[in-house]
Amino acid sequence: MSALAIEGLSFAAGDRILVREVSLVLEPGRVLGLVGASGGGKSLTVLAMLGLLPRGLRQVAGRLRHAGRVLDAAGIAALRGGVVGLVQQSPRACFNPILTIGRHFAETLGRGAAPGRAAALLAEVGFGDPAPLLRAYPFQLSGGMLQRVMLALALARDPDFLLADEPTTELDLVAQAAMLDLLERLATRRNLGVLLVTHDLSVVARLAGMVAVMQAGCIVEQGTVAEFFDGPRHPASRALLRQHLALYGEALP
Ligand SMILES: Nc1ncnc2c1ncn2[C@@H]1O[C@H](COP(=O)(O)OP(=O)(O)O)[C@@H](O)[C@H]1O
Ligand SMILES: [Mg+2]
Repeated sequence: MSALAIEGLSFAAGDRILVREVSLVLEPGRVLGLVGASGGGKSLTVLAMLGLLPRGLRQVAGRLRHAGRVLDAAGIAALRGGVVGLVQQSPRACFNPILTIGRHFAETLGRGAAPGRAAALLAEVGFGDPAPLLRAYPFQLSGGMLQRVMLALALARDPDFLLADEPTTELDLVAQAAMLDLLERLATRRNLGVLLVTHDLSVVARLAGMVAVMQAGCIVEQGTVAEFFDGPRHPASRALLRQHLALYGEALP
């Protein structure tokens, strides 16, 4: 009952429909992979799950539902206030370069936060010695470290759901593996419902139980990861799997 869903959501920019009748459900403890070629509407769908519309876009159909109830404006504001955490693709772009990491936590946590809360969150994302990190500026950290800090900030209000939009795309291979391990552990430990956007099917195979394929603003196929790898039905899904298998010198089943 505590699922978060978008139902029949459509967005338009002027007369152009960018996302058409998209429905997705996030459930506690489950990872849903969202894949598809770039420009397909994945990032807009992530924003839709937060009830955020980029400037210039308008919602033309659909609704958000949480724990069985259709959300009104106040319910959507509550999502952003803590029910849902967001991790984006470019960690460096998400930090203010003139503020220390500690200040970023102070702003996210607010005045009432328990002392040591920021350090505890940083420890949760794998930093053994958080104190010097809190004094550091974003430019002093690697992309992989910043991405883990962004994850710690996303967890600051104990969200039930985590949206991760290409969280490993800009990281080197070692940092990618660390980030995926971390996401997997956190999703289990915190029983998070996760929407994981990626163009990398090996990430889906590893972390997700369900996968949805998006093309030109529509979800063209949705099912279990096992079904997807066994035999995707839609041409867009087949193209994605074909490209993925070609990396390993294999052909489609
Ligand atoms: N703020 C915006 N105004 C107008 N069009 C946009 C805006 N944001 C994204 N788009 C368009 O919507 C489509 C989907 O974009 P996006 O969700 O970023 O795709 P993806 O994340 O799958 O690569 C693209 O054609 C993109 O150009
Ligand atoms: Mg995107």
